[in-house]
Amino acid sequence: MKITVRVWRQPSPDVAGRMVSYEVPDVSEHMSFLEMLDVLNERLTMEGDDPIAFDSDCREGICGMCGLVINGIAHGPQQTTTCQLHMRSFSDGDVIDIEPWRAEPFPVIKDLVVDRGAFDRIIQAGGYISAPTGTAPEAHAQLVPKRDADHAFDAATCIGCGACVAACPNGSAMLFTAAKITHLGLLPQGQPERHSRVLGMVSQHDEEGFGNCTNIGECTAVCPKGIPLETISRLNRDLLGALMKGNN
Ligand code: SF4
Ligand code: FES
Repeated sequence: MKITVRVWRQPSPDVAGRMVSYEVPDVSEHMSFLEMLDVLNERLTMEGDDPIAFDSDCREGICGMCGLVINGIAHGPQQTTTCQLHMRSFSDGDVIDIEPWRAEPFPVIKDLVVDRGAFDRIIQAGGYISAPTGTAPEAHAQLVPKRDADHAFDAATCIGCGACVAACPNGSAMLFTAAKITHLGLLPQGQPERHSRVLGMVSQHDEEGFGNCTNIGECTAVCPKGIPLETISRLNRDLLGALMKGNN
């Protein structure tokens, strides 16, 4: 295939960015989206141009580093991570727009790379447990209802990619925050900090400048791990419980 990509180029945070077009001939449908960018970058480097900066690490859909907005959709046309998107999702002659996550709390560092440190600070505000867990316990030592274990596991699959924020018209990180709160709050080990966790993480979420959830659902539609909107209801219930306890 021969495709054209229009890529956001921005040399540094304090310099205005712009879209720049590049032709990419000889694209195989078997290439991943990031491999297509690798090929383009090799050519740019050989020609003495600055390669396009973008993030990736595992390239297996587990680290959450590779977020890009592709043709206006976070992670592109498939509900997966950008590294798991393949060029067979596109056609010969396509023009593909590639932009970084667009959200004020995720400032652009360079080209397609954004600073997602805001997520780290939300985790630091409560995404942990203090219960001494020691080595891996015997499976039946601490009984967890199957339903809770399943929901906690599903929530734990959130990879912190930030697609939910990029897709949300409010720039809300509620789906991410709710996934972390649900993961720990459903397990016995997560109970000691259950209330301080939700208060701390939601407060940090707001302090970082993320917007609030108005139940639009764009977040869950692009989430590569399918974290459901109900997770945010669970966060709201925990938050209400913590606030009411604080008022008693
Ligand atoms: S909730 Fe989904 S979209 Fe949001 S950070 Fe987690 S994995 Fe990514
Ligand atoms: S590079 Fe790790 S999830 Fe895409």
